[in-house]
Amino acid sequence: MRTQIAAANWKMNLSFQQGEKLIDEILDANIKLSQNQQTIFAVPFPYLLMARSGVGELRNYYVSAQNCNDKKSGAYTGEVSADMLHSIGVHHCVVGHSERREYFHETNTMLAEKVNRCLECFITPIFCCGESLSIREAGTQNEFVATQLKESLFHLPAEKLKGIVIAYEPIWAIGTGKTATTEQAQEMHAHLRSILAGQYGKTIADQVSILYGGSVKANNANELFACPDVDGGLVGGASLIAKDFIEIIRALKK
Ligand code: PGA
Repeated sequence: MRTQIAAANWKMNLSFQQGEKLIDEILDANIKLSQNQQTIFAVPFPYLLMARSGVGELRNYYVSAQNCNDKKSGAYTGEVSADMLHSIGVHHCVVGHSERREYFHETNTMLAEKVNRCLECFITPIFCCGESLSIREAGTQNEFVATQLKESLFHLPAEKLKGIVIAYEPIWAIGTGKTATTEQAQEMHAHLRSILAGQYGKTIADQVSILYGGSVKANNANELFACPDVDGGLVGGASLIAKDFIEIIRALKK
């Protein structure tokens, strides 16, 4: 069974104190994750160490950055490198979230470099892909996401590729309260897996966790996560509310 993941993406929300309380409340639910389940908190940079010490040695709870720079180091004022994240014990990094693609002009080529930097530093990239509403309406979403994978991931050898987490996040569903239907999610996840299989073979493709993101809530997580190719979720809004995120963690396949 593939790793099933509930990943919280806090984005640019919460004070340090609110973040600390949120993690405490979620951990207080005392959910024991099984071997194949993970919970990941993708928190703002200044909160990474706090979140790290919050989850401590709890099995299968991890902390993620929301971004890193595509260069190794150097004169890039205000930026954070994958190596820096590694040096403070961060295991994951969200790469290519649609908000970064849109507001910070991140391209597939640049994201390929970010993926490389993460892997060089033993950080698992949570690589985001997904189409806008206009692409969905034009019916070209399959080709669009295929290009995102191809241009940012397909330079990797199979050994590296299988260590990546993919998050499919249709942009029209992010923060809109409009969730993809289970059919839409399953169809796209199966499509993504078939693209991976075409490039790397079925055995590798079957090992990659593909998360769904876009208005995952406590009341739809069960249904979404039950889809055979949906291996959990990348959750924005609902991850800021302890009781909701707890329900989402509980919805992971066992
Ligand atoms: P949302 O955000 O759950 O608030 O739609 C998901 C994301 O952007 O990762």
